[in-house]
Order: sequence, then C-alpha cells, then structure tokens
Amino acid sequence: MELPRNKYYVLITYAVRVRRYLADMSNCREASRVPTWCAAMSSVLVLAALPASADIHSSIGLSSESFKPGRKRIYAITASGDRMTEQEIILANQQYLFPSVFHYFNEPLVMARAKDQFVWDARGNQYLDFFGGIVTISVGHCNETVNRKVTAQIETLQHVSTVFANEPQAALAKRIAGITPGGKLTKSFFSNSGTEANETAILTARCYTGSFEVVALRHSYHGRSALAMASTGNSAWRLGGAPAAGFTHALNAYCYRCPLGATYPSCGVRCARDLDEMVRTSTSGKIAAFIAEPIQGVGGFITPPKEYFEIVAGIVKKYGGLFISDEVQTGWGRTGGKWFGIEQYGVTPDIITSAKGLGNGTPIGLTVARPEVADGLKGATISTFGGNPVAATAAKAVIDFIDDNKLSINAAEAGAHLRSRLEELKAKHSLIGDVRGMGLMQAIELVEDRETRAPAPEATAALMEAARENRLLVGKGGLYGNVIRISPPLNISKSDIDDFALRLGASLDRVQQIGRRGCRARTSAS
Ligand SMILES: Cc1ncc(COP(=O)(O)O)c(C=O)c1O
Repeated sequence: MELPRNKYYVLITYAVRVRRYLADMSNCREASRVPTWCAAMSSVLVLAALPASADIHSSIGLSSESFKPGRKRIYAITASGDRMTEQEIILANQQYLFPSVFHYFNEPLVMARAKDQFVWDARGNQYLDFFGGIVTISVGHCNETVNRKVTAQIETLQHVSTVFANEPQAALAKRIAGITPGGKLTKSFFSNSGTEANETAILTARCYTGSFEVVALRHSYHGRSALAMASTGNSAWRLGGAPAAGFTHALNAYCYRCPLGATYPSCGVRCARDLDEMVRTSTSGKIAAFIAEPIQGVGGFITPPKEYFEIVAGIVKKYGGLFISDEVQTGWGRTGGKWFGIEQYGVTPDIITSAKGLGNGTPIGLTVARPEVADGLKGATISTFGGNPVAATAAKAVIDFIDDNKLSINAAEAGAHLRSRLEELKAKHSLIGDVRGMGLMQAIELVEDRETRAPAPEATAALMEAARENRLLVGKGGLYGNVIRISPPLNISKSDIDDFALRLGASLDRVQQIGRRGCRARTSAS
C-alpha cells in the first residue's frame, strides 16, 4: 500500500483519531488517558488493513487538496484544553441563556475550534464547514492574514469610540468608498451588526426623504430589533406581533413558488410590476425607502430573475423612495465576480447595508450611502463600538484579502462547480425540488413530491442530522424550513466542493433510506 506524500502526518492524524475513538469507546472524557502506544499500534493495524485503493485522506476526514490560498492546516484534534465538558456547556446554555437562543440539531453541537474550511467539535470531530457561521466566514476560519493584523491592532489601540478619530475607521471608510457600485456610495456609518446597519439605513432614508413608509419584501429577513423585525417578511422572525408601523410587504420573486402562480419568463415579471399598485393602494403614495436583499438569505436563498430589481428600482424612484440593498449575506464577492449582489442586477442603490462576511467573524455593521443621502441624517448619533479600531482593521483586512486573492472570481468559478454538483444530486434525488443561488451562495429546496412541490421540513431536519453524521455543516432556511443553505468560504477549492458533494450525497441517501423504512413501517402498521 502506497501512503500519500506525508505519511507521518497521516499516521499521526490517524493515531490522534484512533485515540479519541478509543477514549469514546471506553467512556473516557479525555483522549490523553488512552496510552499513546495503544493508539499508535491501533493506527498501524488499521492502516495495514486498508485496501491499497483506499483514499486515506478522506478515511481520516480530510480533503485531499489543500485550501486556497495558503495551504496550512491544523491537524491536532483534542479537547483537553476545555475547562467545561460538553455536557456542562449544554447545561449552562439551558440554565443561563434565554431559551430563544436556539441551536441546530436534536443534540446541540458544541464547537471547540476552527481553521480555514474546517471546524472541530468538543470531541475532536472535524467537520467540513459549508455554512460559515451563517454566511459569515468569507475568507476561512481564523484567517492568518486577517488575524495577524487584528492581533497587532488589539495591542495598539483597541477602543476609543466614535467621538475620537482613528486611522482604522478612516482607512476602512475610504476603502469601501472605492468599491461601491459606480463609486457612488462614499459615506459610511459603522455599527456592530446587520440589524443596526438596517436601522441606520431606514432612519437615514426617512430623514433624507421626509417620508416615513418603507416597503420591504415578503420572505425577507432584516434583523432582530423591533424595526428590523417589522421590516422582516417571515412570521417566524417577527416576535411579539407587529412591532412597528409604517412597513408594507411587496411580492418577492420566488419563481419556484410564484406568489401569482405564474411561470418565468412568460410571466413578464408581474411580481415586480405589482409594486406600483401596491404603493398606490397600501401606502400614502410617498415612500421613504424600499429595502431588499438581492438574494433572500434566511428566506432560503431566493434568487430573483435578472429583470426584477431594475423594474422595482424604477417604481421606488417614481414614488420618491430610496433603494436600500441589504447585502448582509450577499456582499463582498459572495455572488461571484462583483463586490455586491445588487450589481448582478445592474442597479445602483442609494444605500447598502452589510455585516457578517465583512468581518469574517469580527462583529461589524456597515451602512454606506450616497453622500447627499448620508448628509440628510442631521444631528449627532453615537455607536459606542461603531468603527471600533479592531473591527475596522479586521474588515479592511478581509476586503484586501478578497481583492488580493481575486476571491470573487473564485466565488464565480467554484460557485459554478458547486452548482453543477448540486444539479447532479438533484438528478439522483427526487427529494430536491429546486437548486438556486449565485456564486458561492447556493441552496437546495426539499419537497415531498416534485409535482405538488409540497415542502419537506421533516426530511430537511433529517438531512441536517445526516450531514452532521457525515461531518458536514450546512444551514437551514426558508419560510417552510425546507431549504438547505450552502455558503462555504470564498477561497474554497473545487476538490473541497467534490468532498462536500460526496458527503451531502451520502446524507441524502441516508434520508431516503430512513424515508423508505418509515414507509414500510407505516404500511405494515396499517
Ligand atoms: C439579510 C440580513 N439582514 C440583516 C441581518 C441581521 O444581521 P445581524 O444578525 O448581524 O443583526 C441578517 C442576519 O442574518 C441578514 O441575513
């Protein structure tokens, strides 16, 4: 049997894995209690027993091609640094956190550490992460280039608040002004989250236009504050009733489940044109803003047809409103080939909001506007942490990293590869009703029956569990909870996408097996 290039690394990694496995088997909390000689012997035996054709890399849960760019990975798999056990963490969560802080999976997955496209749980299991902490890890977990700059900044100037000028905030604002669509949005306001970014955008639009009413889209998600929830078009995320007045929800372009029962393109994009009548019948006829995600994230990566936003933008302008593009998920190259998702539709918005991928895990919110619009927000406003030197340093480093490594191009190319692998899975699995998205923001919508398109939320939950078993992380979404969201880092490689497709395929097989067994049990019971 021929071992791959670095046989020592394979052996050591295998030994660590086997040690963890033996620890699990013997109910031992710490792998270090399993003698090294025992793990090493077992590893040698396991390796010797592997057939010559076996892919040793994938057998130990590592993909065979390195992550681009920067080929370094961490292989140590240990939970010995934990001060709380997995069980203690879960119990403390239950006891000390609001119950509204929910977790994926039947049993919460406790994360210990991460690097590049991988995360490790508290037991040392390695997962291929194709969700990136809700579409947030844009340049890989714990990116060394970004974190080096962050570490240097944290040791130099950590916090001063917006009432003092500082270089990182100024440099970031200048960098962003240089990459917004047409170079037209040049003034930024920094905060800490997407929610705050949208709050600021709506406040600014109201101040600038002197109008109050805001049009948002059905199936949208804009955040968790009272105002952001009011603009959200998904009942699951509108806690406490209708928290604010002045919001109306227009039809979204959900082609797979057209709200007008029509089919694209023969529909003539009627959903977009309906906005005109909506403004005239459901508002005062003067609006402050229209807010939309170019691709609806939480809604299940709903991707409008190419004409949609141009039609909508014309109507919004006609009624005096500003166009706010919520790029919390779609920004920074994710949709492929462009910095912002709205650029895929040839529309220049008045305001862009963002967060998530801008900081690659460091909290930051951005509201960037045309200068005259920004100037409309008269009077003083403070965000204590807004434009914080550390967060601003992280964000600028992320933008530079994406630019230097041409990652929006990779998002387009690797995204096309991802899409084709998902289409292959659709051809094999009738559970997949729709594949959609752009670049490295792709989704599959699961249905019980392709004819009726009945949503399959139970199968989706089962698929999440099966993916976990196959050491793969993906996200869930959609009004019906039947969409799997896929958003790997922008520097993912094609071989990692192949590895992903294998794991997702195996998970779909598993769900289908469970489904068939469930059917047989039901048949024999009836
Ligand atoms: C499109 C969109 N806007 C706003 C938000 C709110 O961002 P945050 O959770 O950072 O407040 C989210 C979060 O998922 C989002 O997806």
